[in-house]
Amino acid sequence: MKSRERREATLRVGIVGAGRTRNGLGPFLARAFERQGCVVTGVVGRDAGRTEANAVALASALGHRVAAYPDLTSLCVSGIDALVIASPPDAHVAALEAAADRGIACLCEKPVCNAADVQRAVLALLSFAERGALVTENVQWPENLPVLEALHGAWEMGSLRRVEMGLSPISADPREMLEDSLPHLLSLVFAIAGLQHGDAMELEQVRTVRAAPGRVALEARFVAPACTVEACLELVQHVEQPRPAWFAIDGRRADRSIGADYAIHFRAGDREFRVEDPMQRLVAGFVRNCKVPASGMRDVQRASMAHAVATRLSLWHRIMSLTFD
Ligand SMILES: NC(=O)c1ccc[n+]([C@@H]2O[C@H](COP(=O)([O-])OP(=O)(O)OC[C@H]3O[C@@H](n4cnc5c(N)ncnc54)[C@H](OP(=O)(O)O)[C@@H]3O)[C@@H](O)[C@H]2O)c1
Repeated sequence: MKSRERREATLRVGIVGAGRTRNGLGPFLARAFERQGCVVTGVVGRDAGRTEANAVALASALGHRVAAYPDLTSLCVSGIDALVIASPPDAHVAALEAAADRGIACLCEKPVCNAADVQRAVLALLSFAERGALVTENVQWPENLPVLEALHGAWEMGSLRRVEMGLSPISADPREMLEDSLPHLLSLVFAIAGLQHGDAMELEQVRTVRAAPGRVALEARFVAPACTVEACLELVQHVEQPRPAWFAIDGRRADRSIGADYAIHFRAGDREFRVEDPMQRLVAGFVRNCKVPASGMRDVQRASMAHAVATRLSLWHRIMSLTFD
């Protein structure tokens, strides 16, 4: 069967870093893809023994065989339609390049790479754009945006927009806290800026309010063609689950709570709504957009998504450098 026809049917998915040793989401992403009708066919990890163990654990959770591959190349030529990069950031860029070289659709964990690999990663992202191949960063907060209207009612956004976000990283190291959390803030900034294909997003100003062990606060101002976005990120270390998190757009705030059964609720005052797991929604969108040509998504739209990921990565790197170097 030709690969284009197969993508119309069942997507075959490979995962880099399929286990969870610290905070990796590999097992959750695997289940999210299978819930969308995809099949996780193979995994690769940091060494043969661990990869085999992760493949066996995943096979038992998913109820079918999952192959353990010795390296990225053998996973990428095994016939997969999509590659999920769920490993720690140091291992992202090689996987991103392997997928880009073969035009394999890719969902990559945030941050897209570590600071030393930004140039390589941007080149890989541009290669996705040139090929019209799909690449998405696993930043799921924009999927929660509709809950604000449910909690606060509809409102018109003006030419000056404001995003605030509070997260609770596990690390107390200010650099690690920001590296880890900044992609989520940037994803919300982009989501509310109303960017069209080819639009630029400039960082006008960034100010570190606080960068101490266990506490970071940052303010930044971005300029897009349609609007200016003021952004504020507050990070407070919190080791145990569930970790507090909230976001606000134009002063309309929603606080997240996660129940024992992973039920996610957002609250504002005495109003509360349950939402579907935003990562499940993100994966559903990714799978829809993978389905060529049924999704109706055009190469130019895929290129636009790849450019957006590259622009966010460059902004992430610039803010990290301005804050800590
Ligand atoms: N989107 C979100 O909300 C969210 C939430 C949490 C985490 N994350 C992101 O998920 C990513 C992974 O988190 P983590 O760093 O805490 O992962 P982790 O749990 O330490 O590891 C995840 C998996 O990656 C494997 N791995 C480790 N080094 C590797 C390498 N060099 N090559 C291939 N696989 C490798 C691990 O193998 P072993 O089994 O051998 O250890 C494990 O299976 C990070 O980018 C993190 O920011 C995102």
